[in-house]
This record gives sequence, structure tokens and C-alpha cells, in this order.
Amino acid sequence: MKHLINILDFSISELDELMTVADDIIDNPEKYSNICNGKQLATLFYEPSTRTRLSFESAMLSLGGKVIGFSDSNSSSVSKGESLADTISIVSGYVDIIAMRHPIEGAPYIATSKSLVPFINAGDGSHFHPTQTLADLLTIHRTLKRFDNLKIALCGDLKYGRTVHSLIDAMSRYENNEFVLISPAELELSPSYIKELEKKNIKFTVTDKLEGSIDDVDILYMTRVQKERFDDIEEYERLKDVFVLDKEKLDTAKEDMIVLHPLPRVNEISVDVDDDKRTMYFEQAYFGKYIRMALILNLLGLSDNKTLKDKLHYTPDNTFKNCIITEKVCSNNKCITKFESNINRYARTVDGVEMCYYCDKEL
Ligand code: NCD
Repeated sequence: MKHLINILDFSISELDELMTVADDIIDNPEKYSNICNGKQLATLFYEPSTRTRLSFESAMLSLGGKVIGFSDSNSSSVSKGESLADTISIVSGYVDIIAMRHPIEGAPYIATSKSLVPFINAGDGSHFHPTQTLADLLTIHRTLKRFDNLKIALCGDLKYGRTVHSLIDAMSRYENNEFVLISPAELELSPSYIKELEKKNIKFTVTDKLEGSIDDVDILYMTRVQKERFDDIEEYERLKDVFVLDKEKLDTAKEDMIVLHPLPRVNEISVDVDDDKRTMYFEQAYFGKYIRMALILNLLGLSDNKTLKDKLHYTPDNTFKNCIITEKVCSNNKCITKFESNINRYARTVDGVEMCYYCDKEL
């Protein structure tokens, strides 16, 4: 059984296969319209969502399957104090596949350690958002037609933006990509990501200016300042509008570059640029449905292509790999280990430093 928690759970060739299947679904939707007959998806959304939840649900319905779930955890037994582990044990007995969004980092590992069916991380706190990255990749694949030799500017909230983290992880695996990291100092990419880029010898520059930083980029990835992750709302108010992409700023950018945004946007992209042919965020949301269809088929083993199957074998017992049980407490107050009782704390060592297995913060 295979799950998707982190975009790196899929190899480059598996991602290529997903792109191929998504392209085929876009071209021949009728071929896929009954393929999930009798299958059920549960969408468990403990955090707000429009695109991710609805595109998952629409994806499963367009494959001929059915959907159950909740979009507000207050309407589930969580409000009575049920643990995530118990919820997953129960729900995974009802359905064939689960997509879950949770505000707490590392929560998906609790889920996969209990789930009887394939599990998809639809976003865990500020940590990862691999299915948004799949939508980003499909958009890049269909517009720029390559994943390597790209200069990628990421702008906005690089600290709390989970889409940023998963996209950097994904694009770091391809040859000769370069990053331009544009954020105010308070929202810079965390030191552990910077260290990883340095370790892999990936070129990157850090700046707090949007003007003058995007003239030669192939992709500009704009992001929303993540209001819900701030402890200090005044800090959010101060930072929320630092970058606004408008016609004037886009003027100097390359003709064949693309502008992406996971959406929702607040003020960071002026509506004036929506009709610029380089802006691709609405297409990106549209492609999100098709890549999720390809993902569901892959995880259910219903995909045409044999190479998609059985590359990774997870069972409830082998979620936690290459790590040790530790007594040490994670330094991240938003880590799942602070919220879920009766679980082991696991550590893995990176460059001699002990990190929490669930959320990747130092112990
Ligand atoms: C993103 C998310 O939830 O992280 N939205 C999405 O899934 N398309 C980005 C955001 O909320 O800013």
C-alpha cells in the first residue's frame, strides 16, 4: 500500500507517469469516467479549503467513485475529543482512500500508521502540501514542457507557506534549477531549507525586493501571507501587503515566463494582470483536478501503467523508517507530538542534529 505525505514519496519517474496519465485524462475523460465504480474517497478537512477539497471530490466523482467526509472538524467526533489515530482507524474501515488536511504538522504520519487504505496529505500546517505541488508540476509540464534548467522565483510567505516547501523539495531534484527567494526578513525560508539547498549545491539568491528580481525568471510563484499561522496579528497586518504583483512589475519579465499562485490570493496579485497570457493560476487550479484524478488512480492501483504500481510499500507498521524512538521533546509547539497522546516520539539525525521525524524541526 502506498501513501502520499511528502512529494518526495514519489520518484521522478513516478511523477512523470502521473503527468502522462493526467494528460491522457484531459484528452480522453470518457475513458476514465467509470474506472472508480464502487470505490469511495473520504475527504477529512480539519482546516478551510476550496480548491483542494472540491477538486479531490470532483476528481473522484469524475472517475465514477463516491465521496464522504467533513469540511469542518466541529461536525466530527474530534469535537468530542477523539484522537486522530482513532478517527483514521475508523474511517479507513469505511472507504478505499483518504485525503486529509490538518493544521498540525506531522499529523499525516499518525494517519498512515493507522490507515488501512492509501492516504493523501492535503496539507499539514506549514509543513507540506504535495498535491498542490502536483498541480504546480502539471502546469509547468503543460506550459514550459520541462522541469529542469528553470529559474524559479518564490515570493511572499516562504516561512509558513507549505506549498513553497513542497515545491522547493520537488524542483530541487531536477538538474540545473535555480531559486530566487523573495520575502521580507520575517518570512524567510527556514534555515533547514537553506542548509539543504547549500548541501545540494543548488543556486539560490535571497532578496526582499520583487522589483528587479524577476526579469530573467521562468516561473514566478506568488504566495499569500499565511494569516492563520501568525501568533501576532499586528505582525501579519504589517507584512500582508509587502508584495503586490501588478502590470508595471510584470512589464520587465520575460515573454515566456509563467506566473503561478496556489490560491486563494488576497492582495498579492492585482486583478489587472489576470488577462496577461503569462498568468497561469486559474489554469493551475483547473489542472489540480486532473492530477488528483491521476493520483487517486495511482494509489488505488487502477492506473493503466504498471510502472506506477508498487514502487513503495507502506503498511501501518512501516511508516516510521530510519529513525529511533526518543524521549526528547520537539521544539515546535505546532507539532503533532504536542497534540496526539499515546504516540511514540521519533527522531532522525541530519548532519549530526537530532530532528523530529514528524515535523522536521530540531529536537
Ligand atoms: C494553499 C494552502 O492551503 O496551503 N491553498 C491551496 O491548497 N490551494 C495556499 C494558501 O492557502 O495560501
